[in-house]
Amino acid sequence: MTALLQNYNRAPLTFVRGEGCELIDDRGERYLDLIGGIAVCALGHAHPEIARAVASQAATLVHASNLFEHEPAGRLAAELARRSGFDRVFFCNSGTEANEAAIKLARKHAFRRGEIERTTILSCTGGFHGRTLGALAATPNAAYQEGFGPLPGGFRTTPFNDVEALGSNLDESVAALLVEPVQGESGVHPADPAFLRAARQACTRRGALLIFDEIQCGMGRLGPTFAFQYFGVEPDAITLAKSLANGLPIGAVLLKEAFASALRPGDHGSTFGGSPVPCAAALAHLRVRDAQMLETRVPVASARLFDGLRALALHYDDVFDAPRGIGLLIGLPVRSPHDASDLVQALRERHVLANKAGGNTLRFAPPLVIEDAQIDRAVVDLGVAADATRRRH
Ligand SMILES: Cc1ncc(COP(=O)(O)O)c(C=O)c1O
Repeated sequence: MTALLQNYNRAPLTFVRGEGCELIDDRGERYLDLIGGIAVCALGHAHPEIARAVASQAATLVHASNLFEHEPAGRLAAELARRSGFDRVFFCNSGTEANEAAIKLARKHAFRRGEIERTTILSCTGGFHGRTLGALAATPNAAYQEGFGPLPGGFRTTPFNDVEALGSNLDESVAALLVEPVQGESGVHPADPAFLRAARQACTRRGALLIFDEIQCGMGRLGPTFAFQYFGVEPDAITLAKSLANGLPIGAVLLKEAFASALRPGDHGSTFGGSPVPCAAALAHLRVRDAQMLETRVPVASARLFDGLRALALHYDDVFDAPRGIGLLIGLPVRSPHDASDLVQALRERHVLANKAGGNTLRFAPPLVIEDAQIDRAVVDLGVAADATRRRH
C-alpha cells in the first residue's frame, strides 16, 4: 500500500538509475527511454557534466533567496538572453508557473498602459499550459478542467491553426495570445507556420502580446535552441521549463525589454525561483548542448526516426497513421480499434518506453542524444508491438 496520492497512472516499474538513453529498474533490467521524463532529459539520464555541476553548486551555495543576487541565475539569464535575443528573464520552478507569470505579465502590461479592459488571455484549442488554476483556465480541455471550477475568468479559446477565426477572436480585449508552436499533450500537432505568422501580425496590430509556450517543444527539441527560431516568428515572450535544467525543477519566462517594466518589485515572485542548483544545471546543459552540436544532430536523428516510423506506418497501415511532429517531438497516431495504451504496454514488454498522448497517439520525446542504433532498435520493437496488437484484434 503506497502513501503516494494516486493522481497518476504509474506503470508497475521502479527505476533506480539512469544512463544516457536508458533507465534501469530495481531488478537491473534496462529500458530504452523514448519519453525522456516527458521531454525533460535532453542530455539523457545522469549526465556526468550535469551531475558535476549540481554537486559542485550544492557544495557551494544552495539557496540565498531572491533578496540577493547570485552568480548562477545571473549567468543563466545572460546566456538565455544572448541565445534568444530576448532581454529579460524571470525564473520560477515549473512550466505551469512560467505560464502563470506570463499571464500576469500580459495583464499587468495592459493595466500599466491604462487599458484596464484588456484582460483576456486567448489560447488555442488542443493547447496544454499546466495545472494551476490560471494555466488550467488557458487549457481548454474538459477532462482536465472538470470539477475544478469556478476557474478564473477572462480566458477564451480560438481554433488552433485557423487564421480566419483568429482574425475575429483576437479583438481589443485580448491581453495575450498564448500558443504552443508544437502542441505536445494533445498528441503532437505542429502549428502551421502561416498561423504563427498571422498570429504575430494580428497581435502587433491589435496591441496584444504574443507568448509562445515552448515548455515542451523548446530547448532544442525541434533543432534550434528555441522553437520560435525554427518557425522564424518572433513572439514577445516565451515560457520554458522541462528540459531547461535537464531534470532539475526550473521554469523561465523570456521577454522583450518593452514589456519588462510591467512587473516591478513586489508584483510577482517565487521563493525557489532561479535557485543556484537548477541554474547551474541549466548552464551545464547549454554547455554540453553546444559541445555535442545537438542543433545539427537533432535534425539528423529526427530524419532517421521519421524514416523508420513512416515505413512502419506503411507496413502496418491498419495500426498506424503517418507520423507527425518536428525534430524529436513526434507523434504516431494509432488507428482504431487498436489502442495506443496496448502498444505502450507491448513496447514496455520489449523494454522500450513510450507514452500515450492526446487522442490515440504514441508520443516520442527521447533524449536528444539518442543514437542511431537506439532509433533503429525502437523502430524494430515498434513493429513487434504492432504485431502483438494485431493479434489481439
Ligand atoms: C506545453 C506545456 N506547457 C506547460 C506545461 C506544464 O509544465 P509543468 O508540468 O512543469 O508545470 C507542460 C507540461 O507538460 C507543457 O507540455
